[in-house]
This record gives sequence, structure tokens and C-alpha cells, in this order.
Amino acid sequence: MKIRTGTLAKLKQKGERFACLTSYDSLTAQIFDQAGIEVLLVGDSAGNVVLGYPTTIPVTLDQMMHFGKAVTEATKSALVVVDMPFGSYELSSEQALASAIKIMKETGADAVKLEGSRPEAVKRIVDAGIPVMGHLGFTPQSVNQLSGFKVQGRGDSSEQLLNDAKALETAGAFAVVLEMIPAQLAERVTSALQIPTIGIGAGSGCDAQILVWTDFAGLSDRSPKFAKQYLNLREQLLAAASDYRDEVRSGSFPTEEQSFS
Ligand code: KIV
Repeated sequence: MKIRTGTLAKLKQKGERFACLTSYDSLTAQIFDQAGIEVLLVGDSAGNVVLGYPTTIPVTLDQMMHFGKAVTEATKSALVVVDMPFGSYELSSEQALASAIKIMKETGADAVKLEGSRPEAVKRIVDAGIPVMGHLGFTPQSVNQLSGFKVQGRGDSSEQLLNDAKALETAGAFAVVLEMIPAQLAERVTSALQIPTIGIGAGSGCDAQILVWTDFAGLSDRSPKFAKQYLNLREQLLAAASDYRDEVRSGSFPTEEQSFS
């Protein structure tokens, strides 16, 4: 069954949590979809984990098209959300709408996501019939303004974050990511909103959780404190590549089994 934004709204109403992962390619999209992950986010974290950039800032709209298309074509059930990269929505609501339309047309995504408190842009995109996911707290595209990778929403700024979340809901966002904020604040936001909250480094009180897949699979060279590693893919790949190298060097690969007569 195809997951739609309405499916996620119903899960929240019933008090049922759901799981989200990032994906940037066809193979992981197939696997995570088959595993029943409800939402696949084609995050602009692709800039870090696929393209090796130090931040997500250099990621372009055209690059997101390639990642987005690969994921949507491999996905049957999950709701696919494509991130709007830095520079594709900040100039005006018109620019935001034009970028969102391009994403929807060229990738076949089910929804887009944008960072920060931009209710006007969200409303403009939603009014055109495109579902929008918000993203508050630590917003990686603003890493320079936020003075690094820091927990947000502590002290006086907690009320602002709550109000920003309510404004996104009023503007028509169907869900909001809460990244690196205190768990208690995430719980407050979650109970104040009708739409689902999706936590990453925001404690267990959100309606859903999201992880960058290379963190969850232990492929990243460094993982943030909030990410749990469900396997050790980096070590496994390293061991496998070393075995392969040894077998090629010794001549024990390929054997007859891998050869044609
Ligand atoms: O780009 C991304 O992967 C994200 C998630 C961390 C929420 O925005």
C-alpha cells in the first residue's frame, strides 16, 4: 500500500509511530522500502555522504534531481520526500514554488522538504498542490549562522521554536523534522501540533524518527551522538575489500565457478 501524507496523519491520530530513513540511490531505496520504512527522505545530506562536501551548502537543485529520480523509481510504498537545497527557496515564495515544481516534475517525488521558519514559502507551495515537510531546530544549511553543529531551542529560544512549528502547521506543512533540540521541547511541540513530528536528535517523544542511512548502517566515518548504528557496514566492507584484494593477488579469485567455458 502506498504511504501518503494522509497515512502519516492517521498514524499520528492513532498514536502510532513511524520510521524514516534517508536514501540517495536505487538499491537502498528498494531495501528500505521493502523493510516497510514509511518515509524515504532524499536529503541534501547527499552532499556530505555521497559527494563528500563538508556541508550541505554547495548542493544544487540539479544534483537533487539525480538522487531524487533514483529513489522514486525504486520505491513502491514509502512516501518519498526530496529536500530543497540551499539557494533554491530563500529568495522569494515564487522561487520556492518554481523549485518545488521542478522537483515534483523531474523526480516524481511525493513531497518536498525545506529548512527553517518560512511559512509564506510553505503556503505558496502547498497552495499549488505540493505537500511540504518543514525542518526546525538545527538546520544544516544554516550551519554558519548557527556557529556550528549545536543543539538548538535551549532557554528562551524554545518558545520561538514552538511558535515556528505552529506557523508551519498553519501554513499547511504535513510534518516537521525536529533536529537536535532538547527532548522535552520536542515533546511539547509534538503535543501542540496535529501534524506528525519527525525527530533526529530530539529524543523519543516525537511521532517518528529519521536517521541518515549511512549513520544507521555504520558506514559513515563519524556518526553524531544521536545516531544508533544498527550494523557495522564500514568494518564489513573494509574486511571484504581486503579479502578480495588478497584473493586477486594470490590468484584464488576468480575460480572455475566464476568463469565461462
Ligand atoms: O538532509 C537530510 O538528510 C536531512 C535529515 C537529517 C533530516 O535533512
